[in-house]
Amino acid sequence: MTRRHDALIPLTHDHHHTLAHARRLEEGASLTDLSERRRVADDFVNFYLGRVLRHFHEEEELFFAPLVDHEEACDEVMKAVAEHLRIHGLARVLRRGLVDGEADPETMKALSKLLTTHVRSEEKNVFPLVERLLTSEELTDLATTGRRDV
Ligand SMILES: [Fe+2]
Ligand SMILES: [Fe+2]
Repeated sequence: MTRRHDALIPLTHDHHHTLAHARRLEEGASLTDLSERRRVADDFVNFYLGRVLRHFHEEEELFFAPLVDHEEACDEVMKAVAEHLRIHGLARVLRRGLVDGEADPETMKALSKLLTTHVRSEEKNVFPLVERLLTSEELTDLATTGRRDV
């Protein structure tokens, strides 16, 4: 991944962790032992609730909202937000399955795939738009206040 503006580095760091979890979900989906598969799914759900939700919130509130009316960025921003909703829906299905003692392999695979394409698309398409279209004052402000303000 390319060098990011300081304001985006915490999010890019989260992306590395997310890709690692996506790989574990993909591998875990093929485990035949239910308790092992549940452990992988449970690890992901904890990561999702503890980190990914906040990550989505930061992206949407701090970086995507200022770009939604930019003609050039609108489609990419809306696509990214729609993917957040789809990921949220799949994570919810996985979480509810765990409550019933399940860990559906197809849900795990779908989540893995969507998380991976989402992160790659943000790094390749969305973050460069953020860096180009937000002013350097806005980015510097977000770099110093971002995480604490959400
Ligand atoms: Fe995102
Ligand atoms: Fe992201």
